[in-house]
Amino acid sequence: MSASTRAGRPQPRAELRPPPAPAPAPAARVYADHAASAPVLPEAGRAVLEALALTGNASSAHAEGRAARRLLEESREEVARVLGARPDEVVLTSGGTEADNLAVTGLYRARRARDPRRRRVLVSAVEHPAVLDPARRLAAAEGAELVVLPVDARGRLDLAALAAELEREPGAAALVSVMWANNETGVLQPLREVVALADAHGVPVHSDAVQAPATQAVDLGASGLAALSVSGHKVGAPVGTGALLLRRGEALEPLVRGGGHERGLRSGTSAVAMARGLAVALAAAEGRRETEAPRLRALRDQLLTGAAQAVPDAVLRGDAREGASLPGTAMLTLPGCDGDALLYLLDARGIAISTGSACSAGALETSHVLRAMGVPDDDARGALRVSLGRTSSPADVERLLEVLPPVVEAARRARAACAPAAAAPAGV
Ligand SMILES: Cc1ncc(COP(=O)(O)O)c(C=O)c1O
Repeated sequence: MSASTRAGRPQPRAELRPPPAPAPAPAARVYADHAASAPVLPEAGRAVLEALALTGNASSAHAEGRAARRLLEESREEVARVLGARPDEVVLTSGGTEADNLAVTGLYRARRARDPRRRRVLVSAVEHPAVLDPARRLAAAEGAELVVLPVDARGRLDLAALAAELEREPGAAALVSVMWANNETGVLQPLREVVALADAHGVPVHSDAVQAPATQAVDLGASGLAALSVSGHKVGAPVGTGALLLRRGEALEPLVRGGGHERGLRSGTSAVAMARGLAVALAAAEGRRETEAPRLRALRDQLLTGAAQAVPDAVLRGDAREGASLPGTAMLTLPGCDGDALLYLLDARGIAISTGSACSAGALETSHVLRAMGVPDDDARGALRVSLGRTSSPADVERLLEVLPPVVEAARRARAACAPAAAAPAGV
C-alpha cells in the first residue's frame, strides 16, 4: 500500500517519522468565573459517585428502593438544616432555573386561583432571566400585570418604589420576587425590608438565592420569605441540582406533574445522587463560610486596588463596601472596550472570566442589570465580571492584574478599528 499523501506529496511512513515533541505543559489557568459555575468540590463529587453506585428507585418499596429513599431523605434533611428550613419545606429541582420558574409561576397561579384580584407580579429590574422570563410569560399569557421595580445606581432595590406599588392597589399583588444577591454585581438586596413591606399587604416574597450560600448564611425561617431558590453548581455540587425552599403552608401550583414526587410539587423520579451532591456541597460551604468570606473579600480588595492602578479609568459597578455585596464578585466597566473582546483576550491568556453582556443570536446585548443601574450603554459594553471563589488565590489576582493593561489596550484598539468611520463631510 502506498504511503498516504498530503497536498500531493508522499508522507513518511509512521515508523520513520520523528517522535512528536512533548506537548508544552499547559500554563496554569486562572478561573475567575465562580458565579457562572464553581468547580465541583471533591467531597461532593465523591458523594455523588458513591450514591450512583446505589441501585433502586427511591419510590420503590423493596430494599434497594428503601436504601435510595433513605439517602434521599438524609440529603433533604441536610439541605433543610443548612438553609434553616424543615425537611418538608425542601422541593428538590434540577437547578436554580427550575426553582425560580416554579416559584414565580406556582406562587402566582396558587394565589390567583384563591383570589382572582391578585394579579400583580412585582419583580426587581435586576432579576436573573430565570425569574424575569416566567414573570413576563405570566403577563403575556395569564393576565398578570408585571411590575418591574427600579434599583439605584449601586443596584440596590428602591424600597420606596416597592412600597408605592404595594399601596397603589392594595389586595392586587400576587407575589414579590427580589433576589438575595445579584449574579453580575454581587449586590445584596434589602430582603428584611422587602419582607416587612410585603407582609403588611399579605403578599408572599420569593428570593432567588442562587448566588448566596457559598458565602452568606441563608435561612428560610429567619428570612421571613415564602420561598427561596438555590442551585448546586454555584456551591460545588454538579450542575443539574437545586431546590426551592417553600415555607410550610404556602400554596404552590406545580409545573411538572406526574407521579406526585416532592409532595406533589415536582414530579419526576428522584435524582438521589444529585440530592446527595447538593447536601454535601451546601454543608461544606456552611463549614467554610466564616473563613472564606473574609478571604475572598481580601482578594477582591487586592483586585480593586490593583485594577485602579493598572487601568485608572476602570469603574466598579455595584457596591464593594463591607456587607453590601458578595465578597468575591466585582463588576467593572472598562471604557472604550467591548466585553466580548475582553473575554476572548483574557481567555487566550489563560484567564476565564465573564462579561456583563449576553450574546444572543450573534448580537451583543447590554446587561439589563447595568442598564437598570443607569449605566450608559456605551460604558456597559465594556463590562467584565470577576467572580472569585474557593480555588482563587492572590497569585490568580496578580496574574489578572498583570494581563489587564495590555488586554484593555488591545480591546480598545479592536473597538476603535471597528467603529464606523466618521461621516465624510457633505460635498467632498
Ligand atoms: C441568580 C441566578 N439565578 C438563577 C440561575 C440559574 O441557575 P441554574 O444554572 O442552576 O439553572 C443562576 C445561574 O447563573 C443565577 O446566577
